[in-house]
Amino acid sequence: MLRLGVNIDHVATVRNARGGAYPDPVRAAKLAQEAGADGITAHLREDRRHIMDADIDGLMEELTIPLNFEMAATDEMQAIALRHKPHAVCIVPEKREEKTTEGGLEVAREENRLAHFIAPLRDAGCRVSIFIAADRPQIEAAHRIGAQVIELHTGAYCDFHAEGRFDERDEELKRLAEMAKFAHSLGLEVHAGHGLTYETVQPIAALPEVIELNIGHFLMGESLFVGMEDAIKEMRRLMDEARAT
Ligand code: PXP
Repeated sequence: MLRLGVNIDHVATVRNARGGAYPDPVRAAKLAQEAGADGITAHLREDRRHIMDADIDGLMEELTIPLNFEMAATDEMQAIALRHKPHAVCIVPEKREEKTTEGGLEVAREENRLAHFIAPLRDAGCRVSIFIAADRPQIEAAHRIGAQVIELHTGAYCDFHAEGRFDERDEELKRLAEMAKFAHSLGLEVHAGHGLTYETVQPIAALPEVIELNIGHFLMGESLFVGMEDAIKEMRRLMDEARAT
């Protein structure tokens, strides 16, 4: 079965626009869980622009589905992850000035440091996932450092689609398909995500090696119009439909 991880970062973005406690990302996560999410993803950024430390405390206390804790490879985040021991940690690149996680992690150039960085997380029982572009050397490096999971960055594929650059979109999709196969052949579990919408999800959901999609921004936006439950159910329906064919 293809799992759906719902990213609730942008519930916190709306909350933080005014400060205070509303809307509560933990409440959103529980609603997502009831609507059929298989896991919840939350990215604690260094600048705490959306998710904050107390949100991670709340998610760890109240969720009964797995938490995928997204974080940069810093000592501060490692200590937080080791304190909570979430089901999974997803290591992502992070730049202060970016609006969102723009690219995949540069694993090949930082292999040694990352191998040492993820070892204690694995030892603590977390599944370690590395967010990377569909690029063979990065996948090989993720495998060598001992990650159990890679998450393929679908942002470029989604951007090409949104810009009507369909030839480039199809090339990127082909690359994603090939690299999902390649990663799977190395024994890595393959996830995918970033920028996915109702329009772009199906070709990714149809890749047989991909077993989890992490989707946030579009789902939270759609929830404003139809409610979170219906938005998640429609995404699930599209994923299942693509998988079945
Ligand atoms: N996966 C990873 C590793 C991410 O960093 C993000 C964005 O935080 C997502 C998935 C979800 O992307 P989006 O919010 O565009 O659906």
